Amino acid sequence: MKDELALPVGTTLDRFIMRKQEDFPFATGELSQLLRDIALAAKIVNREINRAGLLGITGAYGQQNVQGEEQQKLDVIANIRFIRALRNGGEVCTIISEEEDGVIQTGNTKGKYIVAMDPLDGSSNIDVNVAIGTIFSIYRRLSDTGEDGTLEDCLQNGTRQVAAGYVIYGSSTMLVYTTGCGVNGFTYEPSLGEFFLSHPDIKIPRTGRIYSCNEGNVHSFPDGIKGYLNYCKEQNYSARYIGSLVADFHRNLLKGGIYLYPPTAKSPNGKLRLVYECNALALLIEQAGGKATDGSERILDKDPVELHQRCPLVIGSPDMVDKVEEFMTAEL
Ligand code: AHG
Ligand code: MN
Ligand code: MN
Ligand code: MN
Repeated sequence: MKDELALPVGTTLDRFIMRKQEDFPFATGELSQLLRDIALAAKIVNREINRAGLLGITGAYGQQNVQGEEQQKLDVIANIRFIRALRNGGEVCTIISEEEDGVIQTGNTKGKYIVAMDPLDGSSNIDVNVAIGTIFSIYRRLSDTGEDGTLEDCLQNGTRQVAAGYVIYGSSTMLVYTTGCGVNGFTYEPSLGEFFLSHPDIKIPRTGRIYSCNEGNVHSFPDGIKGYLNYCKEQNYSARYIGSLVADFHRNLLKGGIYLYPPTAKSPNGKLRLVYECNALALLIEQAGGKATDGSERILDKDPVELHQRCPLVIGSPDMVDKVEEFMTAEL
């Protein structure tokens, strides 16, 4: 339902958050403040990324994360900046991060919210000036305030997200998020230090002609995925794969298309992480009229059992995700 009082393009993020808060009569402003804290961290990380080559903060950090990935310096910097902004903002009691083995307790035991984040998505692209991003999910804690958040607070089903979004640090820097009432995109104007509404009420086209998949792994893909990729070639679709999930997701969201990260020999459960990559983007895509599955099961129906668990991801235009499911079912 279009918001009759839709705010005009050019509205600042702050004013947009305030207006949307009015839509929640019992809102006490804490989620609004949390969204502002995320926007602040995004501005800081944006500045670090834009100056990385000059500050000598590109390249490997020199240790691996819990995923067994070589951490990049900007992975670590983004992680520190978001944790600091969320800790100082006071609304978040516990954080899950791709770059942290266990959960981070902020000390804000009165905080009502949990944040799950991928502080820097697309790390392999950091040093070559290709778009990268941040992905975040926000949940209300299940446990009582006054204590640290619990593991149960952190392993909630994706349908319990109260908000989700991403930042894309690309040719321009954008914040795209949902609080469950549609998806809106804000473009950052660095000279003013403000995000401005630039993409109101984003809806993904029902279908598209772009598919994103690392076909270097094709020999270990399930037959249904191989069949779908052949179908894309027969349809003369365009292959576009940036290597940053956020960037491929954002382009497909605006133009129509599909992103696939299927099971591979190296990652039999897929590479992407359910709690801080797949769930956030799945909520966003459904809010924009699209679909997200693991090839057959809806992402948001999956109950996380482990902080860093991986799952295959097929996400984008609904008709294209349905077509994948057709090929997967035919192979059963
Ligand atoms: P991250 O940099 O946060 O670890 O995520 C990288 C992900 C995703 O952004 C991207 O689409 C995918 O890994 C690329 O994986 P491959 O290099 O295996 O294709
Ligand atoms: Mn990583
Ligand atoms: Mn990632
Ligand atoms: Mn990452």
